[in-house]
Amino acid sequence: MSTIPSITLNNGLAMPQLGFGVWQVPDEEASAAVRTAVEAGYRSIDTATIYENEVGTGLGIRQAGVPREELFLTTKLWNSGKRDWSGQAGRDAVLREFDASLDKLGTDYLDLYLIHWPRPMHGSFANIWQAFEELLAGGRTRAIGVSNFGQAELTQLFETTSVVPAVNQVELHPHFPQQELRAFHAQHGIATEAWSPLGQGKELLGEPALAKIAAKHGRTVAQVVLRWHLQIGVIAIPKSVTPSRIRENLDVAGFELDAEDLAAIAETATGRRLGPDPTGFDWN
Ligand SMILES: NC(=O)c1ccc[n+]([C@@H]2O[C@H](COP(=O)([O-])OP(=O)(O)OC[C@H]3O[C@@H](n4cnc5c(N)ncnc54)[C@H](OP(=O)(O)O)[C@@H]3O)[C@@H](O)[C@H]2O)c1
Repeated sequence: MSTIPSITLNNGLAMPQLGFGVWQVPDEEASAAVRTAVEAGYRSIDTATIYENEVGTGLGIRQAGVPREELFLTTKLWNSGKRDWSGQAGRDAVLREFDASLDKLGTDYLDLYLIHWPRPMHGSFANIWQAFEELLAGGRTRAIGVSNFGQAELTQLFETTSVVPAVNQVELHPHFPQQELRAFHAQHGIATEAWSPLGQGKELLGEPALAKIAAKHGRTVAQVVLRWHLQIGVIAIPKSVTPSRIRENLDVAGFELDAEDLAAIAETATGRRLGPDPTGFDWN
């Protein structure tokens, strides 16, 4: 949709700045949600192997009838048990996981493939990344990136591999704005993508300061929060299974947060995450 701005990734690929996330959407409901989203105008969809809804996501995309090349499709490599990702066997396992995702999605390429969690307690992820580089070089995915990486993990990646991730998808919303990591990304040409951009629809959307800004612009708090993401240069992927909210979350053009609004939003930061601290997260 023409009103959704794009971010140009470090390999020249354009990525819509607003996309649609499907975490916690059951597979059998994913097709309807994704179809509604694509029909409403979303052109970027974010799923993951662990969401177990790649089949429904792919189905929804096909039902919407928009040509595949007009869509930007992301999925993520899961931690996959206690699997040893090292050596040739690790590399082969990554390629198998990738093929399985493509099969489920019903597509023959991805736009973006992400390492879902860094799991630094398991040592180097260089071998996984080298397999990602192979997928990129072979044209199986148009970009490769990471998720939940901090500065230490990104630095380790720079030191051991050759392709700089196009994207790092991390928890980010006004309560947890990640200024330091965003500055680090900017320095290294990595686009910042926000997960749980609406704070999972919890306390954030009840913030009185945000309600005041929303009233001033005649918008909803969710629209103000998503507008904030766009204005700070972040990619946001709000999730909703509610058709009216799916449309509402896309309707964020036509107004601008001013310096006073941005300062008031900055004041709401709590520094508290909703999700786990990635440095200690080792869920299988
Ligand atoms: N890489 C990672 O580790 C990671 C982790 C978490 C999430 N993600 C990605 O980020 C996406 C978004 O994050 P998220 O799903 O955690 O949370 P979110 O998008 O911040 O919030 C979703 C919640 O907000 C509600 N909501 C949506 N629009 C609303 C509106 N306009 N007004 C009021 N409530 C609204 C939704 O309810 P309804 O659905 O009932 O409408 C849902 O409960 C995920 O779907 C996933 O793709 C990635």
